[in-house]
Order: sequence, then C-alpha cells, then structure tokens
Amino acid sequence: MSCCACFTFLCLLSSFLTSFTVCAQDPTYVYHDCSDTTTTRNSTYFTNLRTLLASLSSRNASYSTGFQNATAGQAPDKVTGLFLCRGDLSPEVCRSCVSFSVNDILSRCPNNREVVLYYDECMLRYSHQNILSTLITAGAVVLRNDSTNQFERFNDVLLSALNPAVTDAASSSRKFDARKASFAASQTFYGLVQCTPDLTTLDCSTCLLTAINLLPSDRLGGRYLMPSCNSRFEFYPFYNQTNGRSSPSPRPPRPERKGGNSNLEVVAIVVSTIVVVLLLIACCCFVTKRKNKAYNRTPAFDGHEIATADSLQLDYRTIQAATNDFSEGNNIGRGGFGEVYKGILSNGTEVAVKRLSKTSGQGETEFKNEVVVVAKLRHRNLVKLLGFSLERQERILVYEYLPNKSLDCFLFDPAKQSQLDWTKRYHIIGGVARGILYLHQDSRLTIIHRDLKASNILLDADMNPKIADFGMARIFGMDQTQENTNRIVGTYGYMAPEYAMQGQYSVKSDVYSFGVSVLEIVSGKKNSSFYQTDAHDLLSYAWWLWRKGTPLDLVDPVIVHNCDRSEVVRCIHIGLLCVQEDPVERPAISTIILMLTSNTVTLPVPREPGLFFQSTPTKDPLDTDQSMKTQSIPCSVDNASITELYPR
Ligand SMILES: *[C@@H]1O[C@H](CO)[C@@H](O)[C@H](O)[C@H]1NC(C)=O
Ligand SMILES: *[C@@H]1O[C@H](CO)[C@@H](O)[C@H](O)[C@H]1NC(C)=O
Ligand SMILES: *[C@@H]1O[C@H](CO)[C@@H](O)[C@H](O)[C@H]1NC(C)=O
Ligand SMILES: *[C@@H]1O[C@H](CO)[C@@H](O)[C@H](O)[C@H]1NC(C)=O
Ligand SMILES: *[C@@H]1O[C@H](CO)[C@@H](O)[C@H](O)[C@H]1NC(C)=O
Repeated sequence: MSCCACFTFLCLLSSFLTSFTVCAQDPTYVYHDCSDTTTTRNSTYFTNLRTLLASLSSRNASYSTGFQNATAGQAPDKVTGLFLCRGDLSPEVCRSCVSFSVNDILSRCPNNREVVLYYDECMLRYSHQNILSTLITAGAVVLRNDSTNQFERFNDVLLSALNPAVTDAASSSRKFDARKASFAASQTFYGLVQCTPDLTTLDCSTCLLTAINLLPSDRLGGRYLMPSCNSRFEFYPFYNQTNGRSSPSPRPPRPERKGGNSNLEVVAIVVSTIVVVLLLIACCCFVTKRKNKAYNRTPAFDGHEIATADSLQLDYRTIQAATNDFSEGNNIGRGGFGEVYKGILSNGTEVAVKRLSKTSGQGETEFKNEVVVVAKLRHRNLVKLLGFSLERQERILVYEYLPNKSLDCFLFDPAKQSQLDWTKRYHIIGGVARGILYLHQDSRLTIIHRDLKASNILLDADMNPKIADFGMARIFGMDQTQENTNRIVGTYGYMAPEYAMQGQYSVKSDVYSFGVSVLEIVSGKKNSSFYQTDAHDLLSYAWWLWRKGTPLDLVDPVIVHNCDRSEVVRCIHIGLLCVQEDPVERPAISTIILMLTSNTVTLPVPREPGLFFQSTPTKDPLDTDQSMKTQSIPCSVDNASITELYPR
C-alpha cells in the first residue's frame, strides 16, 4: 500500500469518525414555530425564560421519562415550558438533544414569547400561557416525503396499524407507541405516535387521531407535528426497535446461515462486518442529512411546495379547446357558482371546468390570491383544484375530473342504492370526516366549507369520497373574517339553523351539515324531500325513532340486513349529536373521528335536533321560500337524482 493510499485511507477513516461524532451529538432539526408576540432581551420575561431553559436542561431533569415541565417567574411574566423526547430514545440521547435545543431555540426565535421547536429526537416548547395539561393543535405542520407511494388503499392499511397504536399510547403513562406492520406480501412500514404525557387519555387520543388521519399516506413517508402530539411513518426503521412493537404479521425470518466456520471465514466476516458497519454509519449520516433537505416541510396547508399563481394560470384558449368551446355536449352540471363542463387537455388529462357566473365581486389580484390558497389544500378526500383562467372577463376554475358521480346519485337512486353497501357507506363517512378535519384543522387558515352536502361529495373509481367546492366563499370574495354574513351560501336541508337564520357560521355549521349527510347515508333518504306521517323531515324522524328506542328503523332497507348494527347505531348517534340546536353542543370534527374509530369513547346523550325549515309549506315568517331568496344555490328539493354534478 503506498503512503498516499494509506493517507487517503486515514483521511477517509477520520472523516467517517467525524461524521459519526456529528451524528451522535447534534439532533436533527425539523421545524420551528415562533409566535407573533415578542419580548426584548432585557425584559423580566426574558430573564425568566433563561431560568426556565436552565432548569429544563439541568442535571436533575427527568431524561429517563423523556418529559419534563417547568415554570419560571410570576404572572404577567411567567414562562411555562417543557421538553419531550422521542419515546424510544435513551436518556443520554434525550439529554444531549435538550441541551442542544435550549441554545438553538434562542437563536432561531430570539425574542418571541411563545415557541415550539422540533427535532427528530426531541421537542422543546415554551409560552407565556399555561400550556400544561392543555390540548394544543394550532400550528400544525405536515412533512411529506417527496416520492409518492403507489400502494393501493395504503391509507386504510396505515390507519388500521396506527389506530391501535393510538389507543395504546393514550392509555400508557409515557403516551408513546411505535410499531411496524407488514402488508402486500413484502412491504413493511414503521409508525410512531406520541403525546406530551401531561395530557389526559381522551385529549391524547383526540390529538393523535387527528395526527394519524392527516398523515400524507400518499407518500413514502411523512409526519404530522403539533405542539401536543405527533405522528410519523416511514418505510424504513427510524426508531429504536428494541422499544417498538411488531405488528401481528412480521416478516418471515431470514434463512439461517449453515455450515462450518473456518478461522479464515470468521476473520473475513469480522473484517467485512467492520467495513460494512463503517460504510453504513457514513451512509446513514449522509442520508440523514440529505433526507432532511429533501423532505418537504410544509407549515400545515400554508406551504410553498405546490402552487403559485403563475404555475396555476391557464390560457383561456387551452380551456376553450378542452371543452369544445363550452359546448352543450360537454356540460355536466350546474352548480351554485356556475356551469360545469368536462374537458380534455391536450395531454389527455380529463378535467372538470367550472365557469363562474360573472357576479363575483372580487378584484383580479384577490381572486388569484384566493385561488392559490385553495389550490394548496391537498388531501385525498378533497377534489384537487388544478388551475384557473382569468381572461376576457371570465373566471374559470379547473378541477380534477372524477368519473364516478356524486354521492347523491347513488344514495337517492333506487336503482343504484344497492351499489353502496354498509362497508362502503361507512368508508365514505370516515373519508368525509377526514376531509373536513383537514379543512378545519388548518391552524393558520380554518376553511369552513359552508355547503357540505351529498351532491358535493364526489366519488372516485374506488368509491373514495372527495369533497368538492370547498373554499368557494374565499374565491368569491365573501367575507371569511366576519363570522356573521349577509351572504348565505348553502343548501336547504343541510344548513345549520343559526347560519340559515342569522348568517352566523363556524366550524360547527359544517358539523351540522356533516350530521345531516351521515343520517342521509345511513337512511338512504334525502333530508329535504323527506316525508313520513310521523315526522316531516329526516332529522325529526331520526330523533323520534331514537327516543322510541328503535334507531335501526331508520336504516336504509337495502343495507339493513347486511350491516354491522353497532356501527350503524353509532353513526346515527353521531349524526344526532352533530345536528343539535346549540352549536356548542355539537362535537368538533376531531372528536367525531375519535367517536368513529374508538368504541371505548362514551358518546353523550343527544338533544333534540335544531331545525329551521319545514318540508311542507307553512305561513311561518321563517318560511323556507323566504330564506331561500338569500341563498345563491338553488336547492334540489324535488329532484332526487342530480342537480349539481360539479366538478365530476
Ligand atoms: C430594553 O431595551 C430597549 C432597547 O433595546 C429599550 O428601549 C428599553 O427601554 C429597555 N428596557 C428596560 C426595562 O431596560
Ligand atoms: C434541580 O435541582 C436543583 C437543586 O438541586 C433545583 O433548584 C432545581 O429546581 C431542580 N430542577 C428541576 C428541573 O427539577
Ligand atoms: C434502544 O433501546 C435500548 C433499550 O432501552 C437501549 O439500551 C439502547 O441504548 C437504545 N438505543 C438507542 C440508540 O437509543
Ligand atoms: C410539572 O412538573 C412538576 C415538577 O417537576 C410536577 O410535579 C408536575 O406534576 C408536572 N406537571 C405536569 C402537568 O406534568
Ligand atoms: C422517502 O422514502 C424512501 C423510502 O422509504 C426513503 O428511502 C427516503 O430516504 C425518503 N426520503 C425522505 C426525504 O425522507
């Protein structure tokens, strides 16, 4: 071996060792969120903050449990803080992550009163508010692996592996669970969920169910981080498996090596093992660094990854060509905001083109801004907005095209009802809930749909639900900041009473519409064209049966003999909780997901549904005909099939 080669080898070796040391010491930065409220370095608050950070990183902090809280000072300058280490890590790794982070946090957010800082290994948080034992989901962030995965129904696989992890984590004292699961013969993925242990079991499961339901399951890996809890999955082992669990169906073990071991062989094995280990360590370090760069860090739904106005803007002529100049033959429906056409772009992509009626009061810039905001909302249970055009006084939105029709086409059509068995209906209920969760959970930008209904729930080829028409209030320039509006968007039969009558809307008005949809899905009957001698609308009828103790009488006869009765009754129960008169009593969508997925949660007793309409004509001052005049969407009272197919 020449001296030069030897030198090179030593260099390589030392660089291996250096990178190893770096790996072992510095935690891997993931994301941070500095609040808007600031302080100065010479303030009492800042002095308290220093004390707090010192005590969190002090020798006697509880690195062995991986969680510690502390406070410093008195109100109004009191600071409360905590750290949380990933549940599988040793106290040493935890300690080194915390020591690093208490310094790092002050350089990343030098003068903020409230900060959350995430690393792979630990999370550090402080605030001027009391954050202990409080469920905080605001400031969520999603991380997505750049590569998409092509596994069929992976979302279901992921959720069925992680749902039990949530249950176990929430009821354990460390509020942590990690496990691997195999599927499709040879695929294995690894999942992890963790809450801060100061949460109650119920708060922890509510938080984690949100976190796992919003994981980007269309990718080869992802995380959902919130101050109170987080979740992660990858297709490689990323946690210390000694502390994780295996799924019930682990991989078959490798065949064992057989045969005599000569000394030579042993030496060869030892040497090659060392080389392989060194290489692996080097690779690991290299990959970890690269991986982090490659990850898409998207502050929840406010990301930079997808859309800019330029990338979304389409040429008017392109759209004209795609739709045969908006020919009658391409018209596939009429929605509240305009006509919808099917189009085929020159590259063969099928799209649904919504030509907005010209009454939008928005300036061009606002319109573009809002389209970009809405196009960034990406979730498997939302219809994708692909682009827009803003030429010749026309405002056009282009969506992905879904060949199957909307839910109402199946649900209320006697010929097609039977295609939706209970399993499919239950799957649709869950998917819609997740889509709404995504819209509502966006901490920076809560999107209230305002017009959720069966005809706005489109179905893809596998009968997965995708919510359409979200964000239209923004695009149409209706005031989103006012929680009280004169301009009511919504549909007869689905609108919460406080919204229909006083124009007050909130996430709870969407919950009301969700409840109506659930009862429609269970019963196969349309709320707005319902008639029974015992009750004049579906909600009152469902309530009447519930009180009578015969909720199963509500169930669609097409499915009643072949369904999981406890699931059905639970769905009716949830539906009734959602349509209660008082918005405060209606559960949040995250709670609904908890109720849908966990049998251990006890549901509260529902109160009488809130109604604002009567399905038979009355002389009531709040007569539906009156309130309809304020709505911009024609209702489909007497048309059991389709009035609105957009965008399909
Ligand atoms: C803190 O520093 C700022 C300038 O950095 C100064 O304006 C302020 O008066 C100082 N406050 C105290 C309490 O010293
Ligand atoms: C650690 O111990 C010191 C005294 O030994 C005490 O002042 C400090 O508050 C303790 N810190 C924590 C986080 O328990
Ligand atoms: C993995 O967990 C085991 C058991 O708790 C522990 O001994 C080991 O140090 C851990 N490894 C790492 C890298 O944290
Ligand atoms: C916060 O820490 C103190 C002392 O370290 C402990 O007694 C208390 O239970 C902790 N509070 C929570 C909510 O974990
Ligand atoms: C994406 O996933 C693949 C497969 O698990 C993995 O090899 C790769 O490192 C991941 N990329 C990132 C950026 O995490």
